[in-house]
Amino acid sequence: MRVPPAQVYFADTDRQEILSRMDEVLSTGQLTLGKYGRELEEQFCRRVGSRYAVAVNSGTSAIEIAMRVLGVEGKDVLVPTNTFFATPAAVLHAGGNVRFVDVDPDTFAMDFDALRRAVTPNTVGVIVVHIAGIITPRLTDICDWCHERGLFVFEDAAHAHGSALNGQPAGTFGDAASFSFYPTKVITAAEGGMIVTDLKHIRDEALLYRDQGKASFTTNVHTRLGYNWRLSEPHAIIGLSQLKRLDEFIAARRAIARFYDERLRDLPGVTPLPIPVNCRSNYYKYICLLAPHINRAALKQTLRERYGVGLSGEVYELPCHQQPVFQQLCGLPPPLLGKEGGSRHSPPYQGGAGGGSPFPVAEDICRRHICLPISARMTVKEAAYVVDALLEAVASSQ
Ligand SMILES: Cc1ncc(COP(=O)(O)O)c(C=O)c1O
Repeated sequence: MRVPPAQVYFADTDRQEILSRMDEVLSTGQLTLGKYGRELEEQFCRRVGSRYAVAVNSGTSAIEIAMRVLGVEGKDVLVPTNTFFATPAAVLHAGGNVRFVDVDPDTFAMDFDALRRAVTPNTVGVIVVHIAGIITPRLTDICDWCHERGLFVFEDAAHAHGSALNGQPAGTFGDAASFSFYPTKVITAAEGGMIVTDLKHIRDEALLYRDQGKASFTTNVHTRLGYNWRLSEPHAIIGLSQLKRLDEFIAARRAIARFYDERLRDLPGVTPLPIPVNCRSNYYKYICLLAPHINRAALKQTLRERYGVGLSGEVYELPCHQQPVFQQLCGLPPPLLGKEGGSRHSPPYQGGAGGGSPFPVAEDICRRHICLPISARMTVKEAAYVVDALLEAVASSQ
């Protein structure tokens, strides 16, 4: 048997519907900024429970647009160091400075105490990332604390379509949020992203930025330094088809996760990350922590080569503060590449107690977690095969 790390799923009926809508837009020529993009926005904000949604061509552009609208130029934005490249990159592209923050080992989310320590007089806001679809139970405290100080909170919810905390959906806690429709995500539009917000001025500004900063669709007067961040109608058609399956997809992922929870309870050396009781994860990823003596690279290789099991990508393998590009741009302590780091605008990071890394938790969890295969298509039989393969591979690595 071969088990892929993740799988995209389009039912036959969905493919037929997509093809017939594609045919319609090809024949009308309404290929971008049309009725399907608007329908996707309407349905998405209804599903998330936000007032507004703006569809864009990637999760990355959704973050950059929001950062431009929130006004980060020359200011510091706090970002968890265990996130995808796009989160800090979008801040830098919008002219802001990134200050990385360590994370909480229980949720992989930004640690509230570390956040409080990282704020500088130049800080304008915080980006929280719902890693793997998990929302930290500290999120409401983080939002309250930030808002009392006039700092924005932005949710990078690229992983979190349909996740919730205390019944409140991801994307409705901060001032605005972004989602990604990249093919590995819980739902896809092939490519695409979405900004959601309850604040009208953020929605209005996002609409301008999305379309080259044009004051209106029909004029050529440009009032903002926007870009081509538009979502095409073919992408919106695919996204609509997937959105209607979101609950079904999450239910299928949860069934696999329940199975893993049950079967991995007593596996020595491999500990599933428990989901906080008040959080409803969409199980974008199923995370397990490995005991320190297990060599992750060797384990992945054994699973792949001997058992045909592909583990899905980590979240994340290398924290951002160890990525060469951010070491150069974000004022990070001892640069990996032997070059002087040094921020353009912010004071350098303070080391941890005893001069250690300021990001010990992120470094530890990034080094020793794995993500088991999970998708809406996966069967319990495949999950059972993964568990058996993992048992054997871990035993042989002891
Ligand atoms: C946490 C996070 N933020 C942002 C993005 C960027 O989304 P996209 O690939 O749609 O640009 C991703 C996508 O992988 C992500 O995982």
